[in-house]
Amino acid sequence: MDESSLPTVHPPSLAGALPTGVTEIALEETASTNAHALELVKSGAAPHLTLVWARRQTKGRGRGGRVWQSPEGNVFFSMVLRPQADWGDLNQLPLVTAVATHAALRPHVPASRALTLKWPNDVLIDGAKVSGTLIESHRLTRRTDADRWSAQALVVGIGVNIAHYPTEGLIYPATSLHAAGSAVERDQVICDLAQALMDTLELWRDRGFAAIRTAYLDRAHGLGQSITVRTSLNLEESLSGVFEGLAEDGALLLRLDDGTVRRLIVGDVFFGAATPNPANAKEMP
Ligand code: BTN
Repeated sequence: MDESSLPTVHPPSLAGALPTGVTEIALEETASTNAHALELVKSGAAPHLTLVWARRQTKGRGRGGRVWQSPEGNVFFSMVLRPQADWGDLNQLPLVTAVATHAALRPHVPASRALTLKWPNDVLIDGAKVSGTLIESHRLTRRTDADRWSAQALVVGIGVNIAHYPTEGLIYPATSLHAAGSAVERDQVICDLAQALMDTLELWRDRGFAAIRTAYLDRAHGLGQSITVRTSLNLEESLSGVFEGLAEDGALLLRLDDGTVRRLIVGDVFFGAATPNPANAKEMP
């Protein structure tokens, strides 16, 4: 059975509090809000700015095929985007979503706590992960004439640890908003994420990627410091160097010991020169 035909009980709607233009699908439980949104896209039932959110996920998915633990109390948010003609390169979207998530969370994190971004789109509180984003696409194509990606639809899936965070089997430490001293509740964060995502998409469209890149670099964790980028799922392949910045297309720029600068378009970043131990790498929050 596909996601969209699963029986669901709908929790109270947030419609009154969501920005105008958002179509809300509120679910008690689903395997994954991203999977649910993609099924809606395939069935033609998901216009631009369809928001699928759920109280719980039973098979939450993270980047690199990892599991995203999804207990009730946290945010499971998937927004369907229909790429618009006046948007920039879709490779830049992960950084757009990172800037948006940061903007949505900043008011809810005590000022004494550092809120930073880990490339490409994790949000950290004092260095521990509080939010992750998985972007999935439907009918992704590359226009070779213009060297640009296009898609019929994209699903921006954002998970935010509000009340809970995982503590075992991690390759990267995690935290939650409540553990960091915030009293904010899930529904408020869902509404703020929707608004921030729409605002940041508008900024990207009106002022181009330069504005997003500047905002990102202002919030980037570890800029100018030693990092290790894991470039394979099993952690065995990694590159260490200095985090130099971001290229015009959002790629991470890594200065190696020999002085050359490598552009990386995928990978998991760790701070410091040490490679994480593969034996501990079961899941990432
Ligand atoms: C990561 O690995 O950091 C990305 C995690 C993304 C989790 C969110 S929760 C809402 C949406 N539905 C999913 O199954 N995954 C994303």
